[in-house]
Amino acid sequence: MEQLLQQLESWRKEIDAYNVPGAEGAEQFRITYLGTKGLVKNLMGEMKNVPADRKREFGQILNEFKQFTEAKYNSLKEAGENGQSAAGVDIDLTLPGNVIPVGSRHPISMMRNRIVSIFQRLGFSVAEGPEIEDDWHNFTALNLPEHHPARDMQDTFYISTHPAWLLRTHTSNIQIREMEKGKLPLRIICPGRVYRNETISARSHCFFHQVEGLYIDENVSFADLKQTLYFFVQEMYGNDVKVRFRPSYFPFTEPSAEMDISCQLCKGAGCNVCKYTGWLEILGCGMVHPKVLEHCNIDPEKYTGFAFGMGVERPALLKYGINDIRLFSENDVRFLKQFRGVV
Ligand code: PHE
Repeated sequence: MEQLLQQLESWRKEIDAYNVPGAEGAEQFRITYLGTKGLVKNLMGEMKNVPADRKREFGQILNEFKQFTEAKYNSLKEAGENGQSAAGVDIDLTLPGNVIPVGSRHPISMMRNRIVSIFQRLGFSVAEGPEIEDDWHNFTALNLPEHHPARDMQDTFYISTHPAWLLRTHTSNIQIREMEKGKLPLRIICPGRVYRNETISARSHCFFHQVEGLYIDENVSFADLKQTLYFFVQEMYGNDVKVRFRPSYFPFTEPSAEMDISCQLCKGAGCNVCKYTGWLEILGCGMVHPKVLEHCNIDPEKYTGFAFGMGVERPALLKYGINDIRLFSENDVRFLKQFRGVV
């Protein structure tokens, strides 16, 4: 009997300290202490072992214990319903929830999508290819044989464990891969990331993005090239933009040209963005060199084609008024979040 009284005291402490929060905690409490197999029921069963002269006393103590346990249960239940923990710590349901940050499109992706969608409307379809490329697809097939001086313009990174592999310097590798598939006519637009071994500065980086295009069919002429690019420029920069072609050199096109547009900032008057020329160079282009066609088993007597390639960073700098190309790849949220809601 004395032992029982002592135990009752320690149970009382245990019950007092019970602190499992919420409705589940309250229910667990009920099962453990007040349920049909719970502690209080068990103790009631002990009555029969209590000597007759102390039954009354013990009965009272037990009753009190039961009331104490029920009172604790009621307060746990109430707290659980109100969203409070049993310890009485308030949970303020009016506080704002955890914010899940919503991302936005990267300015390079937005510019790439703009460029690509204009050509898609002209019937070009998107083609992609590997960033780690072999010499053939990045250089040799494009009429840039080993030791050709034009390779110097596109120095890149080689993979030391696989000397035959390199990081592509342009997305023209995709054009070779698509031509090799042998399905003609071909009208593709090739966006992607490219690499060059260049010093990093506000205006150049060792990786950047390009969109290149290729159209191969019978009777494709330089006039088609010009008309396609005129359309692109008007869609992209507006109807009032002026365009000029300058002769240029690329090993994979003949003839080759650079296309400039009139500077949109100074409207041709001259400013520091266009280096006071009134013109901005936006892409390289030309008629696909017959040797390139031959390398891909396409008969240059039957088929002709044009190709063009442009960077994505430069137009994005101009469009969004950014003055440092490095910002694109630093992943600074303060920079990126400014493009939320921009298209
Ligand atoms: N591949 C060239 C470059 O990266 C761009 C280009 C593509 C030029 C197609 C002409 C034709 O510089």
